[in-house]
Amino acid sequence: MNKKRILSGITATGKLTLANYIGAIRNIVKFQDEYESYVFIADLHALTLPIDPNKLKENKKNIYALFIACGIDLNKTTLFFQSDVIEHGLMNWLITVNTTIGELSRMTQFKDKSQKIRTSNGMETIPTGLLMYPTLMVGDILLYDADLVPVGADQKQHVELTRNIAQRLNNKFKTDFKIPKPYIPEVGSRIMSLSDPTKKMSKSDINEKASIYLLDNPEVAYKKIMKAVTDSEGKIYLSDTKPGIKNLLSIYSSLENISLQETEERFKTKNYGELKNEVGLSVKKFLTKIQKKYDEVINKVDLYASCGAKKAQILANKNLMKLMKALGLKNESE
Ligand code: AMP
Ligand code: TRP
Repeated sequence: MNKKRILSGITATGKLTLANYIGAIRNIVKFQDEYESYVFIADLHALTLPIDPNKLKENKKNIYALFIACGIDLNKTTLFFQSDVIEHGLMNWLITVNTTIGELSRMTQFKDKSQKIRTSNGMETIPTGLLMYPTLMVGDILLYDADLVPVGADQKQHVELTRNIAQRLNNKFKTDFKIPKPYIPEVGSRIMSLSDPTKKMSKSDINEKASIYLLDNPEVAYKKIMKAVTDSEGKIYLSDTKPGIKNLLSIYSSLENISLQETEERFKTKNYGELKNEVGLSVKKFLTKIQKKYDEVINKVDLYASCGAKKAQILANKNLMKLMKALGLKNESE
């Protein structure tokens, strides 16, 4: 029987954080043994917000190498840059014309991001790319006809939109796109900021102390954990009223591969200083390990990425042609 396929991507904006590892990369790595696995760096999605071209170039390469450092095995996973497979651009248009402005403007991510930008100029300052972000993502998923899409909780809505559009295309044009399922990890799908645990840890946070970056000096990362904002109660247990403590327990549980309940049990008689020290050491050990591997592969990224793109393009082209034929853009025999 053919293996089921996963597809996932990560946007090439900013430096990757521990939240990206726990919420996304870790799961992608787990799946590669069981699934046929396609993973890409979403550099086209990165263009939806203002970018510095030199930074983008550097980020792309770092992210590629970090994926390998975090356990992506190129013998098992096809790892590539989205913009190397030009089929993504055309697919985006074919999806766009099958979507409504209502659908796109209801997306939570669009509402949040556009509200932040909105000034007295209103719509004039909201980039169209923010609205179209999901159509590009729907296209990504359908190009590889994925069964499963591992993402963090904030991206679930975009995968749900993909399901609706796949169904729509199948009904209207008799295509046979799979209806993809999102995969959201139970623990760690929302790792919080170290400075304000009611906010998500985000690679776009301007406060560098709020996030652990995967390329942080491990010693610096340890210190960030030691300074993480918690609460004044002094007791360790899991509760939504204690987001700082819950966050530290989640980080530990994910990096040490033990359940959240077991982690709570382990720390329940300890104090906050002891908890932070152990979480800090766990983070330090993890960063030291992945950075060693990162140094080994960073100079080989261009070569690896071009091999990945060639392989990805074969499948992307096949699915793009399928839709082009169904829409009447190409003859069945072409
Ligand atoms: P982003 O950093 O927003 O481009 O997201 C890249 C991937 O990491 C997506 O699958 C996100 O859902 C996931 N992710 C981002 N921030 C977090 C977070 N704070 N906790 C868990 N997962 C996250
Ligand atoms: N939008 C995703 C993010 O959070 C990245 C992404 C782009 C993606 N295309 C995708 C994820 C397709 C899964 C499948 O960064």
